[in-house]
Amino acid sequence: MEHWKNYSEYLTSLNCSIPKHIGFIMDGNGRWAQHYRLPRLQGHSAGILVVKEVVKACSQLQIPCITLYAFSSENWKRSTDEINGLMTLLELYLASELDELHQNNVRMQFIGDLTKLPNGCLNQIQRCSQVTQHNTGLNLVLALNYGGRADILNAAKELSKHSLTQINEADEDFFASLLTTNALPDVDLIIRTSGEQRLSNFLLWEGAYAELYFTEKYWPAFTKEALYEAILWYSERERKFGKV
Ligand code: IPE
Ligand code: IPE
Ligand code: MG
Repeated sequence: MEHWKNYSEYLTSLNCSIPKHIGFIMDGNGRWAQHYRLPRLQGHSAGILVVKEVVKACSQLQIPCITLYAFSSENWKRSTDEINGLMTLLELYLASELDELHQNNVRMQFIGDLTKLPNGCLNQIQRCSQVTQHNTGLNLVLALNYGGRADILNAAKELSKHSLTQINEADEDFFASLLTTNALPDVDLIIRTSGEQRLSNFLLWEGAYAELYFTEKYWPAFTKEALYEAILWYSERERKFGKV
């Protein structure tokens, strides 16, 4: 697989068509574990290794921003054991990766209703956001207890607090400024693993013109080579934004 190294350089040289923001729907951890007759949580642990590889690869490719869908507002419907396991893994990931991410100039941000997360996670989230806030490299956004509809609804509630004139004059840019993703570029490419072809409430507003890439691979089996393939596919798309 020697040529992948050159492939990465090739992709960097294509910088005009490299996405500014990639969203990852990291799906299939449970099925990957099931396939190997392992408990579901082992699938989530294996998924974290892939997160590390993907973050590193995106940083090396100088992609400005990535959002990882790590826990949806609907994932609370899972068993308490799985939820607790996921929260513990998240806390450990943040605690153990902060130093290296910071050294690599990665800026960490979090979207979603964070108030419902356990204190251990919240402490790490605060620490990561604070320590990396001035970094200028990859913007790594974790979507936690995130739901696109809830975010749009919140923005609508925020808008309703403005004067009637401001409400009447509000345009899309103004509305977007009320979303939790307001400081992020629109998502150019959404990658979903595990063969499912749906958005599951991810970046509904921001993804209006995103290119959607689906792969059969389960998230723990996703690799940086698979990422390069997705980016290459993206670079060959003709993005029309309504034009002919
Ligand atoms: C994605 O993998 C991880 C989270 C939603 C946290 P799943 O846990 O949804 O894996 P499958 O879809 O059951 O295989
Ligand atoms: C989407 O995966 C959420 C995350 C990857 C965090 P799900 O596994 O929760 O989505 P559905 O339920 O299959 O749509
Ligand atoms: Mg799933």
